[in-house]
Parts: sequence; C-alpha cells; structure tokens
Amino acid sequence: MGGETSFIDILDYCLAQKKIAPPVFNRTGLQVQQEVAAADPDPRVIEQLITYDPTLTSQILRIANSVFFKGLSEITTIRNAIVRLGMKEIANIALLASQKSNFTSRYRTIQAAMRSLWIHSVACAIGTQWIALNCGMKSRAQEAFTAGLLHDMGKLYILMITEALKRRGNIRQVPSEMILHEALDSLHTRYGYELLTIWNLPEAYAVVARDHHLEEYDDSNALLTMVRLADMACNQQGIGMKPASDLILAATPEADSLGLSEIQMAELEIRLEDAVSLS
Ligand SMILES: [Fe+2]
Ligand SMILES: [Fe+2]
Repeated sequence: MGGETSFIDILDYCLAQKKIAPPVFNRTGLQVQQEVAAADPDPRVIEQLITYDPTLTSQILRIANSVFFKGLSEITTIRNAIVRLGMKEIANIALLASQKSNFTSRYRTIQAAMRSLWIHSVACAIGTQWIALNCGMKSRAQEAFTAGLLHDMGKLYILMITEALKRRGNIRQVPSEMILHEALDSLHTRYGYELLTIWNLPEAYAVVARDHHLEEYDDSNALLTMVRLADMACNQQGIGMKPASDLILAATPEADSLGLSEIQMAELEIRLEDAVSLS
C-alpha cells in the first residue's frame, strides 16, 4: 500500500465491486420502532420482539439501568422497562442495543475509531431527538433519533471493509489514524447512502447519510436539518472524530431555520454531556 490515495482507491474498488459483505443490520431494533410508530402500538408485541433475543434483552436492561435513565429502583425485566420508561424510549434503547455489536474490531486503530464513532452516533441520536422535541416536531422525535444514530454509518462500513482487508491480507497493515480518518471523511457519505439502501431502510435516512455534510443542502428537509445541527453540536462538544470547539451553534443556519435560541442550544449541550454516559 503506497499511501493515502491508494488506500482510498482500494476502498472504492471494494465498494464498487461489492467485494466485501456489508455490516449486518439487526432488524429487531427497527421492528420495535415500527411497532411503536403504529396507530395502536401493543406493548406485548414489543416485549415479545425483544425477549426473543436474549443478548438484546440483556443489553437493553443494562442501558435502561445506566446513569442516563436511572430511576429509583433497578429495572429487571423488559415488561418492567416498558412500564417505567415507556414504549418510545424502549424502542430507542432497542435500536441502540441492536446496533452496538457491529462496533468492534480486533485492530487497535479501527477499534479506537469505532469507539469514537459509536459515542458520536449515540450522542447524535439523543441530540437529534432532543431537537425534534424542542422545535415543534414532537411527532418526528422517533424518526429523528433513528436518523441521528444512522447518519455516519458509512464510517462503520468503511471501518469494517478495512478490517476485512487486513484480515484477508489484502493490505499489510491497518492504515495510520490519519489516513483512516481521511478516508472516512471523504467517503462516508457515499458509503452511508449505499449501506442504508442495502439495508432497505426508508429513503429519508439514506438521504440524511448522503447529504449531512453538503455545503448547500435542502433546508426544507427538517430531518436533515436536525441531524446536521445535532452533528455540529456533538463536534462542538468534542464528541466524535472531528472536534470543533469554536463553533457557535446558535449562529448556524440550521439553528436559525429550526428556530432554536441560544438558551436552547446551551440546553442541548447539557443533554449531549448526559448522552455520553449511555455509550
Ligand atoms: Fe458525517
Ligand atoms: Fe457525524
């Protein structure tokens, strides 16, 4: 492997030729979300969907008992969790728990990037949900959470391809952090769109994955605007691979078009600090 360009070329080739299988999308999290979004959601269906998967069940209970959600007494069953936290919150936790298993690698550089990506994705999900709840789009809070969680999945795809290339001996060593980050930066929106399409998720999520860094974006797309703002808020808080502490959130076109004030932006920052405890 000669350098930065050649690594990006290899990645691009893998994507175009579909040489390496994409990460698997655990559908339980999405099925739970769909049930919650139904006209008359049934908590028993949600309980069944979750308890069918023992690993998911234990992960959900662990998250439900984390500092972020912690109530007065321990939550020990999914039924108990639904009663205590509500169906919507359980749907979000289920989506988180069902994605987490993808974010692991045997190689140090990739593992570090995955860890950082996971924390960023969780915070972005919580942040986008918070924005929806606070800018008059309560009915879209569920969708906002999902879009926030999935917006950078192109990075996961690239990291998993890199891992597979190393494991198969196609590359002699895992690229340096700098080269890896360059590749993630330049390719993740395209890979994200591709991955979410492969996963057969609603087009709206794929569009967010594709357009969240565009300089000129469609500001009539509220979901996209909310994710862009949450993404910037995470970076401003140093949550993720691209810290940007000098960013003034209230002065961004996104905050302006969503009608969010400086005080609300400060509240969002606090919410994000709490969100980090979830990951
Ligand atoms: Fe991104
Ligand atoms: Fe991001």
